[in-house]
Amino acid sequence: MIAKHAHEFSKNAYRYDAHNALQQSIADYLIAGITARAARVVDLGCGSGAVCKRLTWNYERFVGIDSAPAMCALHPQSDTIEVVCDDFESQEVLQAFLPCDLLISSSALQWANDLEALLSYVATRTHEIAFAVFTDRTFQTLYDLSGLPSFLPNAKELRKMIEQRFTCRFEIKTFELFFEDSLSLFRYIKKSGVSGGQKRLSVAQTKQLIQNYPQRHLEFEVLFVWGTPFKA
Ligand SMILES: C[S@@+](CC[C@H](N)C(=O)[O-])C[C@H]1O[C@@H](n2cnc3c(N)ncnc32)[C@H](O)[C@@H]1O
Repeated sequence: MIAKHAHEFSKNAYRYDAHNALQQSIADYLIAGITARAARVVDLGCGSGAVCKRLTWNYERFVGIDSAPAMCALHPQSDTIEVVCDDFESQEVLQAFLPCDLLISSSALQWANDLEALLSYVATRTHEIAFAVFTDRTFQTLYDLSGLPSFLPNAKELRKMIEQRFTCRFEIKTFELFFEDSLSLFRYIKKSGVSGGQKRLSVAQTKQLIQNYPQRHLEFEVLFVWGTPFKA
């Protein structure tokens, strides 16, 4: 099964690195919080390699899984790095690459259709997890103004779901990105991949939102999790 956002991510793949300084900072912060030097690493939603490019230790094997072909094409590859262009929620796919020592995912798990099932599956198949997940307080002003519900997961609910399976350290961080004008702000949303490419506002509604948007920055909230499964 191809993830529902794969096309949107593929379409923007070449501009992706330039537009995603924020996602790179998130990957940096996530990796800085990892203490063990895992030998077998699996990265869910690896994109063009933000995580892989930042790992500083000598691992045995790194597997990046991403359903967007254009992202996979940009990811580093080598004898020790394998890129699998597929759905990270597919148990068949996971089965082929787990167990591992470290299961990492930066800025991707918010797209999971069934995160609970994914967590249950991986809990017995990894020694360690490190996740950074965008929460529903991302683009808060935009959602408040448009009246649309956020499709992103709630931090409390995420935490509860993860705490049932892992002993964890959690951290919530908020980020703000500033823009010259509201048009470039809206362009960022489209290009960043964070919006999921869901076009739920009409052109007229979007235009009105751009004209009336009260600030020149976007808010992001990210839940960081570092942990080990209960039975590891
Ligand atoms: C916002 S990007 C983050 C990429 C990278 N981890 C980073 O930090 O820059 C999210 C990535 O997750 C991938 N993705 C989303 N849902 C997926 C799924 N179910 N299976 C595989 N990849 C998925 C997208 O294709 C995209 O490349």
